[in-house]
Amino acid sequence: MKFFVDTAEIKDIEELVATGLLDGVTTNPSLIAKSGRDFKEVIAEICKITDGDVSAEVAATDYDGMMKEAAELVKIADNVVIKLPLTLDGLKACKSLTEKGHKTNVTLCFSANQALLAAKAGATYISPFIGRLDDINIDGLELIREIRVIYDNYGFETEILAASIRTPNHVKECAIIGADVVTVPPATLRSLVKHPLTDKGLEAFLADWAKTGQTIA
Ligand code: E4P
Repeated sequence: MKFFVDTAEIKDIEELVATGLLDGVTTNPSLIAKSGRDFKEVIAEICKITDGDVSAEVAATDYDGMMKEAAELVKIADNVVIKLPLTLDGLKACKSLTEKGHKTNVTLCFSANQALLAAKAGATYISPFIGRLDDINIDGLELIREIRVIYDNYGFETEILAASIRTPNHVKECAIIGADVVTVPPATLRSLVKHPLTDKGLEAFLADWAKTGQTIA
């Protein structure tokens, strides 16, 4: 399973790239607004830090506008993935961009039928939002399960990019279900390594090691 980080904060991305565990980055207009940075500038900077796929979302809602914006965004770097909303215009743009050889990420997916349409439009990634479904008392993980079954039934190559991840449990369940990618906020991604028994065990090992008076290097 690939790990993407869901942020436009350069420092977080740099730190996570340095761990060697990061496969890509997703952004959205809200994350760009939160960063306070110029959109194209920040995407260019992220694309220099990582070789992985970097999703940059269009702001236009009509097909022509999306295609015009996508044409600008793909100029930024080879690893830019065009993020498009799950609307008929977004799917039409997805099909055209796929035919031109560009990677796409169809976002704001909340149903299995939407995911089916995105796969038919040739999307590289589909982004089902788990947390936002959980927020309205609908099981977000169930959507990931449904999409996995549908994509496997027909051999669709579109990758399931589980988004709106809020907890380490979401990550674990996505891995069990077989999502291809999870995009995770930096703090949640870092928290995956944490276990109190790891900390306790390490503390005890270090105390016992100190008693031996030995050094290794
Ligand atoms: C994914 O592409 C989205 O940017 C993101 O995961 C949305 O997460 P949120 O629901 O926590 O805003």
